Formats: sequence, structure tokens, C-alpha cells
Amino acid sequence: MSLPPDFLWGVATSAYQIEGAVDEDGRSESIWDTFCRVPGAVAGGETGDVACDHYHRWREDIGLMKQLGVDAYRFSLAWPRVVPGGDGEVSAPGLAFYDRLTDALLEEGITPFPTLYHWDLPQVLQDRGGWPARETAEHFAAYAAAVAERLGDRVQHWATLNEPLCSAWIGHLEGKMAPGLTDITAAVRASYHLHLGHGLAVQAIRAAVPDAQVGIVNNLTHCEPATDREADVAAARRADGHVNRWWMDPLHGRGYPADMRELYGVELPEKPGDLETIAAPLDWLGLNYYFRSLVTDEPGGPLPRARQVLLPGARRTAMDWEVHAEGLTETLLRMTDDYGARCLYVTENGSAYPDVVGPGGQIDDPERTRYLEEHLAACTNAVNRGAPLAGYFAWSLLDNFEWAYGYDKRFGLVHVDYASQRRTMKGSG
Ligand code: FCB
Repeated sequence: MSLPPDFLWGVATSAYQIEGAVDEDGRSESIWDTFCRVPGAVAGGETGDVACDHYHRWREDIGLMKQLGVDAYRFSLAWPRVVPGGDGEVSAPGLAFYDRLTDALLEEGITPFPTLYHWDLPQVLQDRGGWPARETAEHFAAYAAAVAERLGDRVQHWATLNEPLCSAWIGHLEGKMAPGLTDITAAVRASYHLHLGHGLAVQAIRAAVPDAQVGIVNNLTHCEPATDREADVAAARRADGHVNRWWMDPLHGRGYPADMRELYGVELPEKPGDLETIAAPLDWLGLNYYFRSLVTDEPGGPLPRARQVLLPGARRTAMDWEVHAEGLTETLLRMTDDYGARCLYVTENGSAYPDVVGPGGQIDDPERTRYLEEHLAACTNAVNRGAPLAGYFAWSLLDNFEWAYGYDKRFGLVHVDYASQRRTMKGSG
């Protein structure tokens, strides 16, 4: 291995997926509370109402991190807990939860690595237009300022958004995540205001925390044509625009890609100065990587008119995601070579498999272990080829609420028995 000596080893989670306690201490509803109640939206009608009950068991969960020996913990803050009204007053008990968590992590020598938005928009803001509305970006910056002012004396590493692609494309175009819309105009406007909110939040964090290391977390995917047919090559280019360039170019002062603007046919709600705000210099870029994308042309299909396919015999996880560690190396190198990244983190990487609890209560999960080994080797390869990779966060510390898939898909290094909330370290952990 040739990872740098100060390489940061971490685990990641997100608020709605683990916290539960959805109506405690003044937390208001998020768009995920609402979405979970839409019949058929989430497998088995499951919700994050209890999840891993981390809101009450966080001390035990920090103990698990100690056991794993991690250096850092990437978690997210629930906006509806901190600012239940969406904008305006900050909730003292809501913020106090993250304050205690931060102190306890630091006591154990674990670096807190908070993300400000991991998909749980306060429902009150959705009712006022959500991310397609410009005000949401401004409210996000105010919330970011409140958190940074409170935790900034102890927290140095900050992520603004987690995977804005999923919020915009899956939430507003595919309708498979909250808020469950299928409207390209809303989706494009949401993507733009997520970026704007990110840029405004960067300013807010820097104003509150002079030594802050600020970044954003994207889920970029290495896209390849399934065949060398010209139509598939063009489809791979569109897929790349949809999942990579649309999300990276504006952050790097390149504006939104012209080919994709034409394909979407939606006018951007741009105001003078926005693109500079969006392109605020960052200290690091986060990459969530799970699979690569092999695509074929699909002329009449949904945007971007490219369909993801699996080759026969491809190794896949319980999510049906292809195991392809080389794609992680390629993506890290793309961020380095095409976008000039100076500091990268793998902010999520992991796999779901149907874990079986053994007779003695143990969970042997050799497939997950192999997945991790292959992807860590892919990180090493990227470092050897020049990627400035500073750390790696495994998704996830715990089995948790896997969004529209409910509790069936287990990504944890630690198994959770939901009935008893008993945690058991898996073999991979
Ligand atoms: C990512 C999400 C994370 C988790 C993993 C499996 O897209 O950021 O919350 O659901 O996928």
C-alpha cells in the first residue's frame, strides 16, 4: 500500500437513515417523513421513524467507531432538527444534540466530518417551493451559518451537500426519492438552486470558521458505452453529462454543459453573480462511489435517453449494482486530471449483501470484505497515479434505512437487529 501516512480512515452515516426520534426535541417533518407515507414509495412501507435509534444510542455508536479504530466520522445534521421552521429560529435542543456528539467524538480522538444536507429538507420549505425555489438556497445558507457558528470552534472539515444529483434527478425527475416529482423543469431548477445553496453556504461557513476546510460530496459515476456502436458512445457521453459534468463543471467555473442544457431544454434561473458564487474555491472534493455505468442508447427513453445495462455474468451486490473497483480509480483520476482537484476524499463506498446471522450470532460477510479490499486497492492505484486522495469513509458504520429500499439492504460494517436495536460487528468490520 502506498497511501499517505496521514490518510484519514473513516465511516459515514446520515441523519435520516440512523437517527429516528423524528418528533423529539422540536424536530419538524422533513420531505422524507412525507415521502415515506406515500403508498408504495418505500419498500414495505418502512420509514425512518425509529431507524437505528441513534438519537438515543449515539454513545454506544461512538464506542463502535472506537472498536473499528477510525480516525474520522462523517455524519449529517438534520436541518428540520436545527431549524424546524426551515428558516428563522434555531432550535436549542436540536443543535445541542450535534454539539454533544461533536464533543464526544473529539474526546475519543475521532475527527468530526459533518455534512449539512443529506436530503432531509424541512417539509415547510418544500411547501414553499422546495429546491426549485431560489429562497431555499438562501435559507440553506442561513442554516449553515447557524451550525458553523455553533460548532466551528471544534469542527474544521465541512461538507455542504451530499449527492445533489440524487436530490435533483432522483427526487424531481425520476420521482423515486423525496419529494417524488417527475418534472424536468423542477429538476433543473432544483439542481441550480442546490448549487447556489452550496456556494452561499461555503461563504457562510468561511465567514464563521476562518480555518474551515470546506468541500462538497458528489456521486460521480464512470460511464462507458456498452458497445462501440456510435449511438452507444453518444449515449455514454450524455450519461456522463447527466451524472458527472452537470455536477462538476459549474463548481469549477465552467458553467453548465451546453449539450446538456440543450437536451433538457430548460432555462436556468440564473441571476448575475450566481455562477461565481457556485464556483467558490473549495478545499476538498468528496466522491461517493458504488458502481460504474455501462450504457446503451435509448432514443425514446427517459432523460438522458441512455439506459444502464449489466453484462451477463457481472458481479453485483444486493442492490444489483455492478462491482467494478477500477471505476473508482478512473473517477479519482478524472477529478484530478480534468478538474485539477488538490484534495480528494472518498466520502462513501460500500456494498449491500444479504447478511446471515450465524448460529453463534456472528455475521460472516466475505463478499463485503472483498468489496472493501478491492476498492481500497483501487484507491491505492489512484494515489500511485497522482490522485491527491487524503482519506476514505466506508458506507456505512451501521445497517440503516436505505431510502426507498427500506431496511432490507444492509450496508453496515456493524449489523443492526432492528427489533432489539442490538449492534453486532460484522466480519468486514
Ligand atoms: C448513497 C447515499 C447514502 C446511501 C448509499 C448507499 O447514494 O448518499 O445515503 O444510501 O448511497
